Parts: sequence; C-alpha cells; structure tokens
Amino acid sequence: MRVSRFRSVLWPAGAALASASIVLAISSLMAPSAVAEGGAPFAVVTDKTVQTECGACHMAYPAGMLPTRSWQAIMDKLDDHFGENAALDAKTTKHITDYLVANAADAGGRGARQLRGVKPDQTPLRITELPWWIREHRGEVSPSAFKDPRVKSKANCVACHRDAAKGYFGDD
Ligand code: HEC
Ligand code: HEC
Repeated sequence: MRVSRFRSVLWPAGAALASASIVLAISSLMAPSAVAEGGAPFAVVTDKTVQTECGACHMAYPAGMLPTRSWQAIMDKLDDHFGENAALDAKTTKHITDYLVANAADAGGRGARQLRGVKPDQTPLRITELPWWIREHRGEVSPSAFKDPRVKSKANCVACHRDAAKGYFGDD
C-alpha cells in the first residue's frame, strides 16, 4: 500500500523513466517505512564504539552491506577516507575492524545476495558501487534525485530511508 503510493509519486501514471516531477519534496523521495510490513531488515550496528565513531559523519552503515575484505581495506586507511581524515587510535581501530569483519556480508557464509556480481579479486570501498545497490535503485530513483540539495549523495541513505537507522530500507 505505502509502496505503491510512493511509486506512483515517483513515476506518476506509469510514466517510465523521464519523469519531470523528479525534483520532489523530500517526503516524496523518502522510501516508505517498512516497519509495519515486516520487510527483511539489515542488522544494524549494535556496537557502541562503531555507532559513535562510524556514525559521526554518516549513518553507521550495516556491516552486512560489505564483505570482509572491503571493511579491512576501509579500516586500513582511515586517514584517507573519501577525502576525510577519519583516523582513530590503534585500539579503537582494531575493535571496530573486528566488529565489522565478524558481521560482514560474507561472515559465516552469509550475504550471497549482497556480493553477487562482485568478483573475488575486487574490493569495493562503497556500498553504493555494489551491483545489488545499483540494481535496487535503478528505475526507482532518478539520478538527479541523488544530487538534490537535501540528499547530496547516494551515501546519504537516511535522506530517503527514514528507518535506515533501524535497518529498514524498503519492503519488497
Ligand atoms: C570524518 C567523517 C567520517 C567519519 C568519522 C567516517 N566516515 Fe565514512 N565517509 C565519510 C565521507 C565524507 C564519505 C563519502 C560520502 C559521500 O560519498 O557522500 C564516507 C563514506 C563511507 C563509506 C562508503 C559509502 C558509500 O558510498 O557506499 C563507507 C562504507 C564508510 N564511509 C565507512 C565508514 C566507517 C566504517 C567509519 C568508522 C571507522 C567511517 N566511515 C567514519 C566520512 C566519514
Ligand atoms: C535519493 C533517495 C535514496 C537514497 C539516497 C538511498 N536510497 Fe535506497 N532506495 C530508494 C528508493 C526510492 C528505493 C526503492 C523503494 C523500495 O524498494 O521500497 C530504494 C531501495 C533500497 C533498498 C531495497 C529495499 C527493498 O527491500 O526493496 C535498499 C536495501 C536500499 N535502498 C539501501 C540504501 C542504502 C544502503 C543507501 C545509502 C548507502 C540508500 N539506499 C540510499 C531511495 C534512496
């Protein structure tokens, strides 16, 4: 119900891609809350240190969204983190790395879906570059919506997914 209302706002009357109404109020950019629908949520970060340190500039992304090797690569160069210095002391860095690795997409044989299309020798540093992420947004979100001043970036999940912090990103 809420999904179809949302979709009809984004793509009115079954309009295919070139909708002119894509400069939208942020409320209509919002993906619907899935709480009531019981959509499969991503496990949220439960570790306080990770929440604090990795949630300071953007949401603390669910560990299950990237494979072990990606988290290791990110944590290995926090001093050069997407143009920011996010360096932490060695003890904190190890604590966070251990948590992310233990809960990574490929930990314990999980997460085949998130890693589909990623070659074993590729180490993506962005969730937003993964084939599953691109697939979930293609046709659902106009490329210009990511540049909306209220969104600014694909990485700003919470601009559109209001329940992202609870692990909910949608319901289908
Ligand atoms: C000082 C600010 C800052 C801190 C602290 C920080 N980040 Fe980031 N992070 C950024 C910026 C800036 C980007 C790029 C955002 C964009 O492209 O809009 C980013 C992007 C990312 C991305 C890629 C998002 C995408 O596009 O899919 C991941 C993953 C990530 N950070 C993980 C972490 C982790 C893990 C920590 C904790 C160790 C952390 N970040 C702490 C600033 C920070
Ligand atoms: C400009 C708005 C926007 C941004 C920013 C955005 N998304 Fe989305 N996302 C959507 C829309 C719209 C959908 C499709 C709605 C749906 O399927 O419920 C979607 C779908 C998804 C889905 C599939 C949900 C499902 O179960 O069908 C996931 C998972 C997801 N997004 C994760 C993310 C993550 C993680 C980020 C940040 C790294 C992000 N999104 C950033 C708008 C956005």
